[in-house]
Amino acid sequence: MQLWNGRFKKELDEKTNDFNSSISFDSRMYKQDIDGSIAHASMLAAQGIISAEDLSEIVKGLNEIKTEIENGQLLIDPNTEDIHTFVEGELTKRIGAAGKRLHTARSRNDQVALDIRLYLRDEVDSVYEMLTELIGVITDKAEKYASCVMPGYTHMQRAQPITFGHHLLAYAEMLLRDKQRLADAKSRMNCSPLGCCALAGTTYDTDREMTAKALGFDGVCQNSLDGVSDRDFCIELASALSIIMVHLSRFSEEIILWCSWEFKFIELDDAFSTGSSIMPQKKNPDITELVRGKSGRVFGDLTALLTMMKGLPLAYNKDMQEDKEAIFDAFDTVKMCLKTFIPMLDTMTALPENMRKAAAGGFINATDCADYLVGKGIPFRDAYKTTGELVALCIDKGTTLEDLPLEDYKNICTEFDEGVYDAINLDNCVNNRTSLGGPAPENVLKQVERVKELNK
Ligand code: ARG
Repeated sequence: MQLWNGRFKKELDEKTNDFNSSISFDSRMYKQDIDGSIAHASMLAAQGIISAEDLSEIVKGLNEIKTEIENGQLLIDPNTEDIHTFVEGELTKRIGAAGKRLHTARSRNDQVALDIRLYLRDEVDSVYEMLTELIGVITDKAEKYASCVMPGYTHMQRAQPITFGHHLLAYAEMLLRDKQRLADAKSRMNCSPLGCCALAGTTYDTDREMTAKALGFDGVCQNSLDGVSDRDFCIELASALSIIMVHLSRFSEEIILWCSWEFKFIELDDAFSTGSSIMPQKKNPDITELVRGKSGRVFGDLTALLTMMKGLPLAYNKDMQEDKEAIFDAFDTVKMCLKTFIPMLDTMTALPENMRKAAAGGFINATDCADYLVGKGIPFRDAYKTTGELVALCIDKGTTLEDLPLEDYKNICTEFDEGVYDAINLDNCVNNRTSLGGPAPENVLKQVERVKELNK
């Protein structure tokens, strides 16, 4: 039997009921629904709208329902319309008339808007904590590999020498911004829609501030139409989650490359790699490929939410029921990815000799060679051209700038002397890059401290 049975002469068609129902995906909000109802009933009693006896029966009944759902004693009926209907129906079955009074001065429209905010608030906290943990793993590794020289790339071509610690810290910066975005979205969504009712408030003398305070909100939604039909927070959160997935996906892509025999910069722990059913030699970075792949799901969830909302007139429309599957999927996916990504990264080992070998082979000290000539008073543009000629010579001779004899240097430019070898030494190139935000080991260690402080 539906909640809205008075006006109707027939039961709802079975297929329509299945189509209309959201119980299969909103039952996960049972706790929030019950907490919201307890706060609402307490307010109704405080305002003299229901009696103290009704309140105590309601609270007792709702708490029993919560415990029984938690311990598996009470199964949520998959044929009910949604979690709100189920809880109210179950309460009324148990306590009769008092249960029927619970919905005074409330609608499912403000109820669902409330439940989803309460639910997502906790979800934000858990992703936030996971990001904190991930940043912690990154700073530990960055500290360990602060002076591990590797090639830095642009266009996927070896460009200039950096340190592995420096490279890792770039991800820490992205993830710190991700945390800020989540916290920011949370602060905006943390206001209570309860008491907006169906769309137009109520004639009862309710106290919206009281329920908002009881439920840990910073304030109340100030316009009842907006309160019930705002889903900005879902869009904002899906957007923040999408950006997190962009970052995890880029990181994953690099890990996949680094694991390949062409790079072999890192080794993933066996516990976080998979084999092939046919090729015995294979050790595959499946986790990172899945993270990269799953980013598409989360972007899809964001697109679904934007599209679902864009043409909706005020106030509530049933389209909005679609918010939950999308935003829940986005959170589930991000959490699932982080849960495996964090220990995978934690157990990853770097192979510094291979990184150094790659850094030594690709003329990544050419800029330093040019800078050396600038130090001798040659304008940068000319120094750049001279170094280009040296690189071409090295390529012809099949050698590197480090191994090119001084004679060859001098033939191209008389300003060169023995000092050039110090200037293009990889460790020096990296150690001297002390400009703010640069890869020098001393910078990396300073940045590790800064990131740790911000990550507290
Ligand atoms: N299951 C609905 C949802 O998720 C609850 C609100 C229903 N309100 C209504 N007027 N039908 O959006």
